[in-house]
Amino acid sequence: MTEHKIALVIGASRGIGRGTALALAHRGAKVVVTYRQDAEGAAGTVRMIQDAGGDGFTKQLDIGDIESLGAFTAELIDEVGARWAAATVDILVNNAGIGLFGRLEEVTAKTFDALVGTNLRGTFFLIQALAPHLPRGGRIINVSTSLTRHVSPGTSVYSASKAAVEVLSRSLAVELGPRGIRINAVAPGPSATDFNGGAMRDDPELRGTLAAQTALGRVGLAEEIGDAIAALASEDMRWVTAERIEVSGGALL
Ligand SMILES: NC(=O)c1ccc[n+]([C@@H]2O[C@H](COP(=O)([O-])OP(=O)(O)OC[C@H]3O[C@@H](n4cnc5c(N)ncnc54)[C@H](OP(=O)(O)O)[C@@H]3O)[C@@H](O)[C@H]2O)c1
Repeated sequence: MTEHKIALVIGASRGIGRGTALALAHRGAKVVVTYRQDAEGAAGTVRMIQDAGGDGFTKQLDIGDIESLGAFTAELIDEVGARWAAATVDILVNNAGIGLFGRLEEVTAKTFDALVGTNLRGTFFLIQALAPHLPRGGRIINVSTSLTRHVSPGTSVYSASKAAVEVLSRSLAVELGPRGIRINAVAPGPSATDFNGGAMRDDPELRGTLAAQTALGRVGLAEEIGDAIAALASEDMRWVTAERIEVSGGALL
């Protein structure tokens, strides 16, 4: 159960983050929905939560701006206290991520830094900022990708940034375990969202190719990834830490 828990979902204005926020709310969690630019999208996620009888609010955060993380965390804890009389956040979902793709000769230092800066550096320093505010029994879920298991041309830096997130999840499980905090990575397969210009959702040829390479015969949906993340956050999974769980319908087996 995630009932009465407080969850913070990073990048929940759309896509997998929104699916996760809704799935957590459906299981009774109160949800803080963050966005980088799309305030409207985040407000839409909160409206969906409220329409379903849940509770949540939005907050802006760019995890690429690590100087802002201290102030973000202090404000978050104040707002959570004022709204829900709580002093901690039980569930942190590090879903925010960017995908920039290019073959070896096409990758620039700017692209490389953006990928590592958001997907790895931002994720690490947000965990560092929030860890003191997670209670015993807290949980962190970092969103990776099935591309850390199978390979595809043009994805080297993106996949490496996510592989690093998987390794830091395992490593931090040892550091956070004594406080009863568990940390896992969820690795979605190709999913129909805005990601990569919406290619997995809007390009019928690519979608068909990926579907043919997937045991369950199609690409994933944001809500399917969100349900798996919410299940992993639940008490039923309380003995699971330091794991990478793929949610890909059996992509490229
Ligand atoms: N879709 C797939 O096929 C797929 C497969 C494997 C893994 N993933 C991973 O799943 C996660 C979510 O992907 P998605 O498909 O839902 O992508 P998406 O539709 O592009 O949504 C990305 C979300 O992350 C937020 N975001 C992006 N950069 C951010 C930053 N620097 N700081 C804070 N928030 C930021 C966006 O906020 P704004 O809306 O405000 O810009 C948005 O809410 C990513 O980590 C991605 O790598 C996706």
